[in-house]
Amino acid sequence: MIPSHPMDLSGKLVLLTGASAGIGRETAILLSKLGARVILSGRNEEALAQTLASMSGNGHILAPFDMADTDGIADWVVSLNKAHGPADGYVHCAGVQLNRSIRLFDAAFFDETMRINLASALAVAKGFRQRRNRERQGAIVLVSSIAGLIGQSANVVYGASKAGLMSATRGLAMELLRDNIRVNCVAPALVNTEMAQKTKDSMTEAQFQYILDQHPMGIGEPVDVANAIAFLLSDAARWINAVTLPVEGGYLAN
Ligand SMILES: NC(=O)c1ccc[n+]([C@@H]2O[C@H](COP(=O)([O-])OP(=O)(O)OC[C@H]3O[C@@H](n4cnc5c(N)ncnc54)[C@H](OP(=O)(O)O)[C@@H]3O)[C@@H](O)[C@H]2O)c1
Repeated sequence: MIPSHPMDLSGKLVLLTGASAGIGRETAILLSKLGARVILSGRNEEALAQTLASMSGNGHILAPFDMADTDGIADWVVSLNKAHGPADGYVHCAGVQLNRSIRLFDAAFFDETMRINLASALAVAKGFRQRRNRERQGAIVLVSSIAGLIGQSANVVYGASKAGLMSATRGLAMELLRDNIRVNCVAPALVNTEMAQKTKDSMTEAQFQYILDQHPMGIGEPVDVANAIAFLLSDAARWINAVTLPVEGGYLAN
């Protein structure tokens, strides 16, 4: 049945990582306005509480967790399912970006980036598919980046982790068909968050201006990405599966 508002999320429970800041926080606020109950995750409990204070509706749940604990993640998700009922949606916003030249590459840097950005998404998916009511369509939205589609100096490992998310989107979408779960991905260009501020701080003014000049419509706001996430999560996208949606104000056409 098509709801009166195509992006209505009433009655749905959504697990959201990265809910303590930036794109994740804005996504939490929007999902709550659309009627969803949201399980908010991140490490910073105070920041999660701040997100909660900005949300609409009731019944949201704070569930702090460190995405570095790869092998603990699936059990944690299953315990959330047991306590609150199986989630209908999962949005993976948690991520880290360290700009580092390949000259400074080492295993610890590689492991941290891949673990937080990519391995955690797969581990949450492992837990999310368990104990589901397959009569209800589930939806996963992974937050990648245009860095996974283009080449950027000093951003090689981050770009590889985000390209991995796009590949994982296609693989998971096929594997989770039997669980009645769609899996899609968004790939934003530069968005006005703390992460973007850190990128700015790591560069000269001229270098950052060069990046700004590549955005024909200027840089995005977190709500621009949240809108795309909410759409892919909603039943309005019930026949959209395994895609990566660039959310980038024309960046890739430039
Ligand atoms: N901003 C951009 O320009 C941009 C562009 C393209 C893609 N993206 C992607 O969009 C997503 C959100 O980015 P943002 O700009 O909103 O970043 P942000 O403001 O830096 O927020 C990052 C989020 O990730 C969480 N996180 C980081 N490490 C974690 C860990 N070990 N365990 C659990 N949570 C962790 C943080 O929570 P805690 O600190 O509370 O743990 C925070 O909620 C990221 O995946 C990023 O790669 C951002």
